[in-house]
Amino acid sequence: MNNRIFEGAHLELGDKPQSVVIAIDGPAGAGKSTVAKLLAKSLGFEFLDTGAMYRAVTYAAITRGIDLSDSQSILILASSLEIQLDGSNVTLNGIDISEAIRTPEVGQSIGAVADNVQVRALLSQWQRDWARGRCVVTEGRDQGSEVFKDSPCKIFLVASNEERAKRRQEELSKKGIDIDLVEILDQQNRRDHQDRIRPVGALRRADDAIEFHTDGLSLEQVVEQLEAIIHQRLSQPTAKINEPHHPSSLSKQSLPASEAE
Ligand code: C5P
Repeated sequence: MNNRIFEGAHLELGDKPQSVVIAIDGPAGAGKSTVAKLLAKSLGFEFLDTGAMYRAVTYAAITRGIDLSDSQSILILASSLEIQLDGSNVTLNGIDISEAIRTPEVGQSIGAVADNVQVRALLSQWQRDWARGRCVVTEGRDQGSEVFKDSPCKIFLVASNEERAKRRQEELSKKGIDIDLVEILDQQNRRDHQDRIRPVGALRRADDAIEFHTDGLSLEQVVEQLEAIIHQRLSQPTAKINEPHHPSSLSKQSLPASEAE
């Protein structure tokens, strides 16, 4: 066992490789992706970006001209896709779509996919299959509250509306896109609202999640403090460490045959 977390946490794991899921949730712009990626790296864990799955299905629906209001067609489409995640790299039926899923068009259309209860069930199952037998830092909206309820360490990452909007503005400005802060705040509020009112998989803090505020902290400070929390949580005797199982990819083993892209 060479994951650093176990050395630091002094867990008694025996000889078998184990599976651990650290679940990070929170609203858009709280810094989940960056923080989860860095944490995964420093812990020697794998990183699971569940937003990328919702984005990949949305991208596929848009590029195939599927009516986003037709929930049954979206489900049939989602069931036919083979999505592979490797860190920040995303492929759809073998084609790299890592950049293509980050466009404003995908972001604006994603609600139709994220609100689809059956698609959520499918993607949640993919996420569990992906994580089984692995040590993972996963991030999304529903990871601690729905998908990995047994996670021994759940973090709910938050920041003030202003801080999140400023970060988003800076991010866009680096890409040469200048948008007024008020407009960013407005978009952010709408997205938060949509994420919170969803009947299934809504953004909410799991009862046993630690709420962590990032306002005023540097990225390094956030990662350092969260690492300490994770070590502390995983070293508690009640920490649930699961037995392994080894599926190799996200979709095909639990889904109908894939469709060519
Ligand atoms: O995290 P990211 O911004 O890439 O997520 C895009 C959208 O996907 C979110 O606004 C949310 O609507 C949806 N999502 C979700 N459940 C997740 C991850 C993302 O509904 N676990």
